[in-house]
Amino acid sequence: MKTRAAILRQTPGLWEIEELELDPPGPGEVLVKMIATGLCHSDDHVTRGDLAAARLPLVGGHEGAGVVRQVGSDVQGLEVGDHIVTSFVPSCGRCRWCAMGMQNLCDNGALIRFGTQLDGTCRLHDSEGVEVSTTACLGTFSEWQVFDQMSCIKVDVDLPLEVACLVSCGVQTGYGSVKAGDVQPGDVVLVIGVGGIGMNAVQGARDAGAAHVIAVDPVAAKRGWAADFGATAAYESVAAAMPAVAQLTNGQGADVAILCVGVVRNDLVGQAYQAVRKAGTLVVTGIGPATDDSAIPGVNAVSLAMQQKRIQGALYGMKSPREAVPMLLTMYRAGKLKLDELITRTYSLDEINEGYRDLHEGKNIRGVITFAD
Ligand SMILES: NC(=O)c1ccc[n+]([C@@H]2O[C@H](COP(=O)([O-])OP(=O)(O)OC[C@H]3O[C@@H](n4cnc5c(N)ncnc54)[C@H](O)[C@@H]3O)[C@@H](O)[C@H]2O)c1
Ligand SMILES: [Zn+2]
Ligand SMILES: [Zn+2]
Repeated sequence: MKTRAAILRQTPGLWEIEELELDPPGPGEVLVKMIATGLCHSDDHVTRGDLAAARLPLVGGHEGAGVVRQVGSDVQGLEVGDHIVTSFVPSCGRCRWCAMGMQNLCDNGALIRFGTQLDGTCRLHDSEGVEVSTTACLGTFSEWQVFDQMSCIKVDVDLPLEVACLVSCGVQTGYGSVKAGDVQPGDVVLVIGVGGIGMNAVQGARDAGAAHVIAVDPVAAKRGWAADFGATAAYESVAAAMPAVAQLTNGQGADVAILCVGVVRNDLVGQAYQAVRKAGTLVVTGIGPATDDSAIPGVNAVSLAMQQKRIQGALYGMKSPREAVPMLLTMYRAGKLKLDELITRTYSLDEINEGYRDLHEGKNIRGVITFAD
């Protein structure tokens, strides 16, 4: 069948809308009519070249939601008409990590960097017959798409899919980063970068009982919005926030800092590390250029050991997506989690480059592409 999709042909580059040929789903796969997909910064890392694309051309997107329209013969637990959100880590439920309740670290996650379906083949071809790869075994920037059942999480049909899609990456990642930092009631928490991910770390820190949630972002509008999500103060840089952090903590430093900046460079990791008290935790959620293996200023064996600090990386909010997605949507339904308010603007697929331009200009908490039915 035909589909229209946003495709990347070179990096750095821009998304181009093309009509592609989409093969039917394999035995363990489903055909999905996409309804919405969020514009996460992770896809922009590929267009800018911070992260290498596995193969080009590539259909991007991983924060998706849609309706199942066809199921393969081996698919279990999904039927035509089901609503799903996508998981950017396919999880098998059987490997060591899944068995330990860490589906975000499923061994199948290693396959998402190849740009193919889980079986190593591609379902998309361009008008010349050239295979088109996908981001994270997904490629949600497409009107129709074929996903492995391991990448699909069923959601209740009455939930709006343009809202539910956000939970599949940004909300789970940000909200879960608070748990990754083991935030305790009464803590002073610094959330550095309050975009689509960080805004959810703000709401997570509020829910964890943090006494002070201090947002850091150079964009004034983001600092303003952060207050609506639970921030108690906001500053334009870590340096500008430090006098307040020192004053609140008797000069000790924040209990937890959560780094959610769009492009994380090691000097900022160093600043965030310095902002944390002894025995405190820095959670690194945002990512930067994959090839940057420079030193992190201020971090060495002496400072780590003597101050007993923890640097905690967090993938997908350090939680199983099949556990986190329903939990977060239940909170939303109960009015305890803000999701509608995360969507600053919706775009058509053809407006995708405008959406990413707005991300760069700091106009959105989250931009969302909605597909015509
Ligand atoms: N660990 C994971 O599993 C995971 C999952 C999804 C996304 N990510 C990563 O998280 C990061 C954030 O993604 P996003 O979609 O929220 O991006 P975003 O662009 O929506 O938000 C980033 C925010 O950082 C702010 N910022 C930029 N420079 C800053 C600085 N020096 N100090 C403070 N704030 C600064 C921006 O103004 C913006 O508000 C990206 O690196 C993304 O790739 C990680
Ligand atoms: Zn994402
Ligand atoms: Zn697994």
